[in-house]
Amino acid sequence: MERLFIEPRDLADADKLAAMGLRHNPVTALVVPRPIAWISTITSEGIANLAPFSFSGMACQSPPMVMFCANASHAEGGDKDTLRNVRQNGEFVFNVATWELREQMNRSSSMVDRHIDEFDLVGVTKAPSRAIRPPRVAESPLSLECKVATIVELPACPVSGQRNTATFGEVVGIHIDPDIIHDGRIDSGRYRPLARLGYLDYATCGDIFEMHRPGPRR
Ligand SMILES: Cc1cc2nc3c(=O)[nH]c(=O)nc-3n(C[C@H](O)[C@H](O)[C@H](O)COP(=O)(O)O)c2cc1C
Repeated sequence: MERLFIEPRDLADADKLAAMGLRHNPVTALVVPRPIAWISTITSEGIANLAPFSFSGMACQSPPMVMFCANASHAEGGDKDTLRNVRQNGEFVFNVATWELREQMNRSSSMVDRHIDEFDLVGVTKAPSRAIRPPRVAESPLSLECKVATIVELPACPVSGQRNTATFGEVVGIHIDPDIIHDGRIDSGRYRPLARLGYLDYATCGDIFEMHRPGPRR
């Protein structure tokens, strides 16, 4: 069957999308699932900040590196608090969001006053990090302490002109809840990492299966 073909400039044109049978801009549904980086940072005044970012992931195995993308601006103008904090202080924690933490994760995306501590707002506990200043989410079974390696400026939104950035961090400390370890391996099925699909859809881990790569085993 012939594929639909969409040019990015038409993604903002509801009539063109509707003519193809699409009720919404499909972009967020194109590459899924996206892990949810629940990023904690700290302001220069020492106020903690927490927000989810699903344009995110692991970028490198050795050294371990993760990344997240901040898109658009804060409601008060300028960079989102997370981006502002990593620019100023160069540190963040990548906490893994889980099924059990889904409501708190979602509430922490509220665009609130810069001086509000979202840990307190959503009712999660701060646990101290070891190598960096921002606290981690105590309830998350996996938290990665990170130092910013680079912040890449991406092309701005062609419609609003708002900036997009990708922040890459080198992992300098790894916190693992021993309860998620089974048979010597982290068992993702035990903590149900949360992922984002398109639109307002989410998923957790479905079937988990093993597959060996061809050639010599690494
Ligand atoms: C599941 C989920 C995923 C999100 N992913 C992103 C993202 O990848 N990039 C982004 O800029 N905002 C994303 N947001 C919105 C931010 O969390 C929101 O703008 C938040 O208020 C930013 O907080 P901050 O100003 O404290 O950094 C997401 C929200 C939710 C609920």
